[in-house]
Amino acid sequence: MSGHLARAGGSLAATTGFLPARASSVAAEVDWVFGFVFWVSLFFLGLIVGLTLLFVVRYRRRPGRLEPEDSPSHDTRLELLWTLVPLALLMVLFGLSTRTWLRMVRGDGAGGTPLEVRVTARRWSWWFDHPGGRGAPELHVVANRQAELVLSSVDVIHSLWVPEFRLKQDAVPGRFIRMSFTPTVAGSYPILCTEYCGTDHSRMLSRVVVHPDQAGFDAWAREGAAPAASLVEHGKRVFAQRGCVACHSLDGTRRLGPTVKGLWRRRERLADGTEIVVDDEYLRESLVKPGAKVVAGFPNVMPPLVLEERDLQGLGAYLQSLSERP
Ligand code: CUA
Repeated sequence: MSGHLARAGGSLAATTGFLPARASSVAAEVDWVFGFVFWVSLFFLGLIVGLTLLFVVRYRRRPGRLEPEDSPSHDTRLELLWTLVPLALLMVLFGLSTRTWLRMVRGDGAGGTPLEVRVTARRWSWWFDHPGGRGAPELHVVANRQAELVLSSVDVIHSLWVPEFRLKQDAVPGRFIRMSFTPTVAGSYPILCTEYCGTDHSRMLSRVVVHPDQAGFDAWAREGAAPAASLVEHGKRVFAQRGCVACHSLDGTRRLGPTVKGLWRRRERLADGTEIVVDDEYLRESLVKPGAKVVAGFPNVMPPLVLEERDLQGLGAYLQSLSERP
């Protein structure tokens, strides 16, 4: 499909009819299992519906037709047939899908040591901690080198889905779940959350960048490894890391929460009718106890943040800096 090719950055990912392009080592196998289930199901759907229609027409009540005889209550051959054939098909399906699933869990060992990335899901954003210390809201991996994701969630169950990789794995609070795959085509692919997790579930989007080689990945990882020096920089990082931008736009766009553009010293009308001016006290309270003073016209849905003191100070400094810029 042309749309998927465009999103894959014009890469060579093969398109496959009505499915998105394939860009990982397990994709072809997953498609094969999917195709098997699909065609077997279609065959039996046709067989059952076809026979039903045929019998309904052929044996319908008609004037002058004899009353039906009693039908036999039991036929061992027939019952064995319709038990053993589905059993055999299901065992084949079990074998095929288990083999594919084991490959996803164990990985194929391509390109030496796996690239291990820690994935943190929260309402409503993703965060990826890469080897070498660089964290980012997008996932970065290397073509033809096995990647191993370690997924966790800080609140509810989310599910990481990369359609082009045929990769889907839940992130469950209180657990670490591993998932291996080898990207095969360099490019950029969408990441979706595919487990309903609340209001902004459909906006819980990101992307995975597949670097063509290790050098490209290393260059990217170095670029962001410098420690956050100033408080404003630190706050900017916390803002990205906590996924604040999913609800609070930087450019004035209205999302689930008020935009942070021009937030500092802004006059806000609250849900209870009173007016306040955004200052340090209000910012801090709204981060720690978001429900205390909700701006009129916005839902009271923000989860309270548990933040280190430096994170709070950084966020305050960063949000203030957004309005001080010319
Ligand atoms: Cu996270 Cu849906």
